[in-house]
Amino acid sequence: MQKITLYTILGGFLIIAFSGCQSNAPKKIPSLKNLFKNDFKVGAAINERQLYGKEPGAVKLVQKQFNTISPENVLKWAPINPKPDSLNFGPADRYVKFGVKNHMWIIGHNLVWHKQVPQWIFQNKDGSLVDRQTLIKRMQQHIYREAGRYKGKIDGWDVVNEAINDKGKLRQSKWLKIIGKKYIPMAFKAAAKAAPKAELYYNDYDLYKPAKRKRVVQLVRNLQKKGIRIDGIGMQGHWSLKKPDLKQVQKSINAFSKLGVKVMISELDIKILNPGYFANKDSTTNNPDPYKNGLPDSVQTQLTNRYVSIFKLLYKNRNKISRVTFWGVNNGDSWLNYRPKKHTAYPLLFNRKNQPTPAFWGVVHAIKKMKRQNK
Ligand code: GLA
Repeated sequence: MQKITLYTILGGFLIIAFSGCQSNAPKKIPSLKNLFKNDFKVGAAINERQLYGKEPGAVKLVQKQFNTISPENVLKWAPINPKPDSLNFGPADRYVKFGVKNHMWIIGHNLVWHKQVPQWIFQNKDGSLVDRQTLIKRMQQHIYREAGRYKGKIDGWDVVNEAINDKGKLRQSKWLKIIGKKYIPMAFKAAAKAAPKAELYYNDYDLYKPAKRKRVVQLVRNLQKKGIRIDGIGMQGHWSLKKPDLKQVQKSINAFSKLGVKVMISELDIKILNPGYFANKDSTTNNPDPYKNGLPDSVQTQLTNRYVSIFKLLYKNRNKISRVTFWGVNNGDSWLNYRPKKHTAYPLLFNRKNQPTPAFWGVVHAIKKMKRQNK
């Protein structure tokens, strides 16, 4: 009899204890910057609306979660200097001020690129292309002015962005056509002069592809041989559920770190719908916004698993990787919501209300487990 009573009491205790664990108390949200504090910096690209106080929730999230920021658009050449006689550093100044105030590692993005660059810099007044010397001067002047303005404040610059095409050749941009391939060393030299303490990077997409990997290795070696400073390579990381094969990413991390430079994932986001989806005219698959009301569980699981595999790989490479930056703060402000067509995208680790997604928790649990097992 007594035994039965004892068991009943014990059982009751267990039930109470168990339901206590299941309580609805909000789970404490760990921060990515803290989770990876001994491994690499973690950051997000922030936009102009956030800088001007229009998304306070996203700003708070940045302060809680990240220790490095990148400017999504405000430091690009076109918004800064749209016409020869108009200079607009307002949003860029705000960006840098925000980073300084919050003690963040501040990225400058970018100095020389073929996109979001005002066309006037390549043209004479009559619309014809400028000569080589004029373009060299304009490029140097821009670098001295922008990198010089934030000297001692911006910690790392994407000096040249996307100079290599998908075949592993130098991209036929106006930079290449007018100046020739020397525009790359010239840009790095100018950046080193303007911001002697900032790290200087080459940044590009699809760097897991063997042809691009090889060409970037060559580009970095050429600079090093000439004694021109380059400190790191940014692998953008606009990836999808299936691509790239992470073995290819690993090969590029190895090849780049062998050059003695830092390796970064500089613009991470994951596409669920590939551009092919939107091009497909088949009426059964051509729903322009299939996940408008949320992700089905099966797709969310794929996304979580993908993020977990990516972060396991990055964590394993923590001695080679210095920074991982997401291209956006929450799913709502990602550029992917508009590419290639307007739709509801889910590329980041925070949802439209700035709350962690299942993929966030997947990453946190997987990394904590690896840390416990000393992997
Ligand atoms: C490239 C650029 C970024 C950004 C994205 C799309 O990756 O480096 O600045 O423009 O494209 O938003």
